[in-house]
Amino acid sequence: MTNLDLGRQEFGDEKNAGNAMTRLEVAALLDQWITNERLRVHVNQVGKLMYSWAREQEGLDEESAWKWEMAGLLHDADWDQWPDQHCSKIIGELENRNIDPEIIRAIASHGPAYFGVEPRTKMDKMLYAFDELSGLVHAYSLMRPEGYLGMELKGVQKRLKEKSFAANVSREDIRDAAERAGISVEDLIRFVIAHQTA
Ligand SMILES: [Fe+2]
Ligand SMILES: [Fe+2]
Repeated sequence: MTNLDLGRQEFGDEKNAGNAMTRLEVAALLDQWITNERLRVHVNQVGKLMYSWAREQEGLDEESAWKWEMAGLLHDADWDQWPDQHCSKIIGELENRNIDPEIIRAIASHGPAYFGVEPRTKMDKMLYAFDELSGLVHAYSLMRPEGYLGMELKGVQKRLKEKSFAANVSREDIRDAAERAGISVEDLIRFVIAHQTA
């Protein structure tokens, strides 16, 4: 496996605090960088979860919640075309664009075991917590005739225990991320289900 360790803990420049991209700019970048439809669904799902969590659980305003959503939307932007440069490629891009360091750091810490960056802020921790778990819940929805409709916590927990199901989803990352966020895996699953019925 390629070594994806980023070799640093600080990202971006403090003087760029508050600088975000517009929704249109993010959409254009994702259009250019991601051709894989499944990855597109994944980043949209994580972006929506991040936004909803920021608004509902952290009580943040629209502007701050957009930063959370942006981190979710862009966290895997480089995975499709540059898997060997995941996630240094998107970090470099955002640093060049003078984007808020909070957003860049959240992206950099979405897989501490791979990128060697410890999640620090709540934004960092929630991105890590939603990433793998939402992938597993989504895989489960695809095998259910009704998709997300009527999905229950118990069903997801069963799949979580079943190692062969969505085997590429790291159960250890899910456990570790929930622990770091201080939220039970059960509560995280409930939140993911509740925000995916649309
Ligand atoms: Fe990733
Ligand atoms: Fe991801």
